[in-house]
Amino acid sequence: MQTLTVQLGERSYPIHIGSGLLGQAELLQPALPRKRAAIVTDTTVAPLYLEKLRQTLRGIDVIAIPIILPDGEEYKNSVTLNLIYDALLTNRCERTTPLIALGGGVIGDMAGYAAATYLRGVPFIQIPTTLLAQVDSSVGGKTGINHPLGKNMIGAFYQPQLVLADIDTLNTLPDNELSAGIAEVIKYGLIRDLPFFEWLEQNMGKLLARDTEALQYAIARSCLNKAEVVAADERESGERALLNLGHTFGHAIESGMGYGNWLHGEGVAAGTIMAADLSQRLGWIGAQDVARICGLFERAGLPTVAPDLGAEKYLELMGLDKKVEGGKIRFVLLREIGRAVVCGDVPEMLLQQTLEACCGRVDG
Ligand code: NAD
Ligand code: GLY
Repeated sequence: MQTLTVQLGERSYPIHIGSGLLGQAELLQPALPRKRAAIVTDTTVAPLYLEKLRQTLRGIDVIAIPIILPDGEEYKNSVTLNLIYDALLTNRCERTTPLIALGGGVIGDMAGYAAATYLRGVPFIQIPTTLLAQVDSSVGGKTGINHPLGKNMIGAFYQPQLVLADIDTLNTLPDNELSAGIAEVIKYGLIRDLPFFEWLEQNMGKLLARDTEALQYAIARSCLNKAEVVAADERESGERALLNLGHTFGHAIESGMGYGNWLHGEGVAAGTIMAADLSQRLGWIGAQDVARICGLFERAGLPTVAPDLGAEKYLELMGLDKKVEGGKIRFVLLREIGRAVVCGDVPEMLLQQTLEACCGRVDG
């Protein structure tokens, strides 16, 4: 097992990464001083891991109330969020009752937002069970829900007290969900870690074969990158925006196609190729860089061609991005592989060219 720390002063917390961690009560105990907790999970994860977790908690005399939500990005909304509040109130959960998220990023984001807001804040624990959640969404304290007009538009920064990433849970993850997580792993290499990008080029086969050592390495290295960025810029006033490489386009794909039709990681993959294309048009990276990035996403089983929503629809959806400032869309782009920057003055003509070249069609 490896343990990393997200350094946030008094709110610092550990990320434990390894095999068999769901059974290790002593890792959870420091964040569970009381006898009760609530576990938020979904209908897919519950039959796989809920009983195992409850059993572990019983071992330290903690009785956990299960809250089982419908599974899917299309349920990451205020109606489902209310089901969490209903259950917490019905069971008379108190300010000291911790909320445990057991599942992927959808569960983590929703449970985190519920924890941030129920009784104005209750303790929160993340037990991520998808690769995407283990390398990204469980770390850093972004919580929230979607709005019909835009992705993750309602939310709060609220840090967990503990992240427990049990690699064994990835054995039951469908292949396309594993690939979706790899999209966020590749992101760290692209924005700030060239040696990691090169490692991924060498070891993609092992990750896809779910080699435990390779997964452990990739998760820990991703979490290390994320923890450093979050420690430097918790509330995204600067560097943290770089973690959104591919997300401005990707979120437009997700909401434009209808939540749940494109996985988050798939949108990020196709969106990153659009960001790379735009970076090339600005003269920052070369065609060979774009081809290299495309090649890695393709090997990971991810889409590199975005759906053809039409340029106007993309512009409308991206106009709702959280990074928009003074009405201008700010893009995360690549200066080189391993170095990303935020750019707020992309010439409109180049953006149009990227939208036309990348969406469902030919090379530009
Ligand atoms: P997800 O939560 O929808 O999980 C994917 C699917 O896998 C679901 O059907 C789930 O039930 C199932 N599943 C989960 N664990 C499993 C397991 N061990 N075995 C079998 N099936 C399992 O999707 P995701 O990719 O984990 O998360 C995507 C969400 O995360 C998006 O809503 C995105 O906006 C959010 N996100 C948040 C942050 C953040 O910083 N908060 C960062 C990145 C993404
Ligand atoms: N996934 C983006 C962030 O955590 O900032």
